[in-house]
Amino acid sequence: MYIVIEGQDGTGKSTQAELLKKYYEDQGKEVVVIEEPDGDLPQAHDLHDMILTRGYKLEPLTNFLLFTASRLELWRKIAEPLLKRGGVVISARNYWSSIAYQGYGEGVSRSRIIKITKDIMPEKYCHPDYGFILTVPDEVRLARQKNRGKATETFEAKADDFQQRVNGAYPKIAKDFNLTLIDASGTIEEIQAEIRQHLGIQDLSTVILKDAASDDDSVVGELRVV
Ligand code: TYD
Repeated sequence: MYIVIEGQDGTGKSTQAELLKKYYEDQGKEVVVIEEPDGDLPQAHDLHDMILTRGYKLEPLTNFLLFTASRLELWRKIAEPLLKRGGVVISARNYWSSIAYQGYGEGVSRSRIIKITKDIMPEKYCHPDYGFILTVPDEVRLARQKNRGKATETFEAKADDFQQRVNGAYPKIAKDFNLTLIDASGTIEEIQAEIRQHLGIQDLSTVILKDAASDDDSVVGELRVV
């Protein structure tokens, strides 16, 4: 099963992905979380650094092509083999990030992004079993980002109008690609419960986080379901 959790920086994608991973692991499944454009893969890590940390002022189209190269590597080397073994792949981000950031944010034509992605990426990548988009109002997102004090990477550090274009793109993307839009301004537990409900997971008992997990995109503490 391939599940995607999308959304702007500061919406809590990674936290939600990790909680979901824990659930499926408890069910005895083999699970991996992929964080496009990074991941437990050196070439993806290098591509991530090339786009985000080297300070090159890359062309928007170059960014898109490098993100695409990273997602192809992550798909072929990590996601596809696990899916073939019957495992669960949970991805924080998918090519919808490129539509939001490189398309709406940086001005690359949306139809070009879709065309190139469909040309390169397999059908399953483009049509996950479940796709969620987490959204939060701009004020909430900015407060969360400020709290975690990490707004130095290329796209997070861009001006407010860029961020607003990206944030504004997500509801449109949800509609156009038939993705489940989730208001992520609630608590971690509420958002996780909503995601699980959409996944048809019967166990909707409260999810309690030990070790005071934060509400940003960082890894969560140990999970206890009661
Ligand atoms: P990173 O810190 O690695 O991930 P995250 O903030 O999601 O935890 O930063 C990835 C950045 O790259 C983030 O600001 C979104 C951006 N991005 C794009 O612009 N296009 C894409 O296709 C992807 C996958 C990410």
